[in-house]
Amino acid sequence: MNSENQKIEINRRRFLQTTAAAGIYLGVFGMPNLFGNVLSDKNATGIPDVKLNNGLKMPMLGFGTYGLRGDVCQESVATALTEGYRLVDTAKIYGNEEAVGKGIKQSGVNRKELFVTSKLWVDDAGYENTKKGFEETLTKLGLDYLDLYLIHRPRGDVKGSWKAMEELYKAGKIKAIGISNFDSKQMADLLSYAEVKPAVNQIETHAFYQEIQAYNELKQHHIQMEAWAPFAEGRNGLFTNEVLAKIAKKHNKTVAQVNLRWHFQRGIVAIPRSSQKAHIVENLNIFDFKLDHDEMSAIEKLDLNKTQFPEWS
Ligand SMILES: NC(=O)c1ccc[n+]([C@@H]2O[C@H](COP(=O)([O-])OP(=O)(O)OC[C@H]3O[C@@H](n4cnc5c(N)ncnc54)[C@H](OP(=O)(O)O)[C@@H]3O)[C@@H](O)[C@H]2O)c1
Repeated sequence: MNSENQKIEINRRRFLQTTAAAGIYLGVFGMPNLFGNVLSDKNATGIPDVKLNNGLKMPMLGFGTYGLRGDVCQESVATALTEGYRLVDTAKIYGNEEAVGKGIKQSGVNRKELFVTSKLWVDDAGYENTKKGFEETLTKLGLDYLDLYLIHRPRGDVKGSWKAMEELYKAGKIKAIGISNFDSKQMADLLSYAEVKPAVNQIETHAFYQEIQAYNELKQHHIQMEAWAPFAEGRNGLFTNEVLAKIAKKHNKTVAQVNLRWHFQRGIVAIPRSSQKAHIVENLNIFDFKLDHDEMSAIEKLDLNKTQFPEWS
């Protein structure tokens, strides 16, 4: 075993020991509010998987890369994977697919253990452009398949894009296909012609914008909800919110961990981003405590039912 692999193995063991000792996944299995089937058989690093509507396993917690570029991106991705994350979320428009690919290589983690997501940008909408855009993404990442490919935003020829993605999916170039930022109407439209149902809808979701309607609809359709900006990027004072801070103190956890645990207990996949190793590790340690009913309710009351990113609407 080379030294890089040794490091990964030690991290993996350390994580498994901590989570097992603490009774990982407290009370989450069998909860009625899950989108898919959260599996008790954990992946190699102890992060629970959810089974998507096509049978593919997806980690319930992943690493976001929006805004990370160049060496910082590469190092952050490598650190995240070495510390135990297996899901990495990127997109063409982030301009970092090459750096993400380098980070993956640097980590030394086996491709088969990873769950790599990228997204088709609006400029590449339509059948031909989607195929081209997808190939460019693969080349930049240095990979020969993606685990999940999402239509980033519902703009332009979505029907043409979806047909191309269905073909790529059937050809085995993508393990699951999905959507992002689709509202109820846009999703219903896609479902009216889709041969392959989307496996995931990635939308803005956090304590201040809980997307209850989308949450219920996605559950009904067995489409996995994935939260982007699970911390609202700290907007509206999320990291200093009194309700969250009180709950965090009770569990000897941080506000960030309480937030991520809340997403997990709702059955939502979250993809927090950080460029700091301490935060990257902190955000991973959410499987050794449980929020009770009152705490979940208190967080529910923080919902403002309003985007914190009006500039992107
Ligand atoms: N589909 C879409 O349209 C869409 C849109 C936006 C985002 N996304 C995806 O979702 C991912 C997550 O969203 P996001 O990056 O916008 O925001 P986010 O994850 O909600 O917040 C990131 C911010 O939180 C800070 N942070 C992270 N961990 C922390 C901790 N433990 N304590 C205190 N601060 C912490 C980070 O700073 P430090 O670096 O200092 O830790 C960073 O400033 C993105 O990276 C991207 O992959 C998708």
